[in-house]
Amino acid sequence: MSTTPPLDPLGHLADDLAQVRAQGLYRPLHVMSSANRTRVTVDGREAITLASNNYLGLNTHPRLIEASLDALRRFGAGSGAVRTISGTMALHEELETELARFKHVEAALTFQSGFTCNTGVIPVVAGEPDLIVSDAFNHASIIDGMRLSKAPRVIYRHKDVAHLRELLATARREGRADGQAYRAILVVTDGVFSMDGDIAPLPGIVAAAEEQGAAVFVDDAHASGVLGRNGRGSVDHFDLHGRVAIQVGTLSKAMGVLGGYVAGSRTLREMLVQRARPFLFSTSHPPAVAAACIAAIHVLEDEPELIERLWANTRRFKAELARMGFDTGVSETPITPVMVGDSAAAIRFADRLLDEGVWATSVVFPTVALDGARLRTIVTAAHSDEELDTCLDAFSRVGRELGLIAG
Ligand SMILES: Cc1ncc(COP(=O)(O)O)c(C=O)c1O
Repeated sequence: MSTTPPLDPLGHLADDLAQVRAQGLYRPLHVMSSANRTRVTVDGREAITLASNNYLGLNTHPRLIEASLDALRRFGAGSGAVRTISGTMALHEELETELARFKHVEAALTFQSGFTCNTGVIPVVAGEPDLIVSDAFNHASIIDGMRLSKAPRVIYRHKDVAHLRELLATARREGRADGQAYRAILVVTDGVFSMDGDIAPLPGIVAAAEEQGAAVFVDDAHASGVLGRNGRGSVDHFDLHGRVAIQVGTLSKAMGVLGGYVAGSRTLREMLVQRARPFLFSTSHPPAVAAACIAAIHVLEDEPELIERLWANTRRFKAELARMGFDTGVSETPITPVMVGDSAAAIRFADRLLDEGVWATSVVFPTVALDGARLRTIVTAAHSDEELDTCLDAFSRVGRELGLIAG
């Protein structure tokens, strides 16, 4: 029996959108007509931004700009193909050699973004015969990578090493549903958690994994260029070299450009080249991107004062917010959430700050829990003392006006 097709087969999109709006969760895009420096023009207004992941201000560093211009002139705007066909340029390989050297590992492989790196790597390193044990607050790209992997997975409470240990012991003792032992167990964690700015307890995680013969995978998207010597990441920060099998990093945040990379063994790299789907089926970085990323590594090595400045600014900003009475959650890094709770209140807070010339993004459900709405701020190495003062004044004024702090 034939049925009459609906007149608007995608009509549910409009309904879904109306629901998002009704819940007060609609997120407009703010449009910049300037570079993403500390002072930006956003939606036609001048503001100091606390909304970027540009930790070290490298996106406009002269050495990165020069390197990309040079590559653009010499090698063109695009790479022309996926890596495995004809899209591997000497610059891509040079970047990977430099990353491996920088991270003190055998080999590295780059992806178009940190997101595609996670969705590409996880399904290659874990599958149906394996188990993934994952922190409850891991990034969406890890979650998608795990889903694509088809590996069974269990979640440990956020940063709870005792819980992780328990789950690992159970997994070893009981094995898979069919009674067989797992082929491999992979413990997966963010190095720095992107919404709260807290650091994974990597020494405990590594010890727990070693006890049960599991491998560790750390996603250092927010630790790259921020933690460890010259920004080498959380493994370096905790001096765990050689004990973390897979380190993912991003080139899109502190490195100031775009991309993701995985650092580990030569075998890991070779297998990813054969099987990682975003590597096999999506065009490689434009040469200018690869060249700028190489320059970014060299800047990290040559200008350690940028990371010192990032941390000095961070300490000052956090201390002042706390002194005013704001709740900055559990952050230990430059990601400083300013907790609000209610989504509509967080959106209002961000709107009022923008009126006052300060851009801080509100983060609401579903990125965080329904009652966990917040502003997410990141000060960078590039912010001047005066710019931080201006931001802090605005937080104080608007916070009091909205009843978020006493005064
Ligand atoms: C933990 C984590 N992993 C991966 C990513 C994705 O990185 P990229 O922006 O390079 O795709 C992010 C960025 O939001 C992140 O916070």
